[in-house]
Amino acid sequence: MYQGFYHFTEMPFSLTPNTDFFCALAPHNEALKVILSALSMSEGFIKVTGEVGTGKTLLCRKLINHLSDKFVACYLPNPYLTPDELRIAFANELGIDISNDVAAQGLHSAIETKLLALKKEGRQAVLIIDEAQSLSWDALEMLRLFSNLETEKSKLLQIVLFGQPELDANLSNPKVRQIRQRISFSYTLRTMTSAEVDYYIGHRLTTAGGSEQLIPKGLRAFIALVTRGTPRLVNIVCHKILLRAYGQGKSAASWQHTINAVFDTDDCKRRLVPRQSIVILSIAAVAVASALHLYGAPGL
Ligand SMILES: Nc1ncnc2c1ncn2[C@@H]1O[C@H](COP(=O)(O)OP(=O)(O)OP(=O)(O)O)[C@@H](O)[C@H]1O
Ligand SMILES: [Mg+2]
Repeated sequence: MYQGFYHFTEMPFSLTPNTDFFCALAPHNEALKVILSALSMSEGFIKVTGEVGTGKTLLCRKLINHLSDKFVACYLPNPYLTPDELRIAFANELGIDISNDVAAQGLHSAIETKLLALKKEGRQAVLIIDEAQSLSWDALEMLRLFSNLETEKSKLLQIVLFGQPELDANLSNPKVRQIRQRISFSYTLRTMTSAEVDYYIGHRLTTAGGSEQLIPKGLRAFIALVTRGTPRLVNIVCHKILLRAYGQGKSAASWQHTINAVFDTDDCKRRLVPRQSIVILSIAAVAVASALHLYGAPGL
């Protein structure tokens, strides 16, 4: 592999959402600020949506690292759970000792007791759910019940949902309008601009201990175009570019490596093909027009 060849200490474009590689881009920074200020105001329910591969899971992890001791983070990365499983997973995260035969109602009370105990210590639990678009209706209803847990003065629990745009579609269903009304803060993660992709690629290369020049700036605007600024796609394409450059023993990537990498990535190729077709059609049109002109076609 190219890691040693290019003197990287880690693979620069790994798909794992590793917070060491977090790049403080405007959308991710803003989202983090919105969530942290909503939590500090005890706003209860917060939602962050974003297209596939825009950095939601990375943001979840970053948020957990950023929470002060005032908060107890309870992270559920996989919400394919029945309401009972959801309750058990939440109780587990709170550190409640769960025996197998504990009844649902007993567990609910145990959760409430634990949240009240935290409150007395001046702390508050934050339930962070990734992939929230996969929550069933019953699981969403369970969350609503959790969010009802409060003292006379304040909430005992805050909930942050991260999900793909389908989460918004699910929440627009009248069945869950009570939850929808409780969401006091929302943020939509956008994809990166061309300038941000440029910075992002440089940041990942140097964070991994390599040189900025490995993927020259001239190629980055093209990478931004074909990936539409989606971080995961940028990682996939850049990894393939470096593989090709390494395969030829080059000290930096070229247009040839980049175009080959893009054609090898379905989600990016689609973006390239129509444009290429336009170029080919234009060349063909010019060629036909000149041929007609040369042979003195009537009307030209
Ligand atoms: N701000 C950022 N800084 C560094 N890397 C990022 C950033 N945003 C996204 N990435 C990287 O992009 C890739 C995709 O991110 P992530 O897995 O968090 O996306 P996602 O929105 O959770 O996707 P999905 O909807 O499929 O769950 C990961 O490798 C992640 O590290
Ligand atoms: Mg994710």
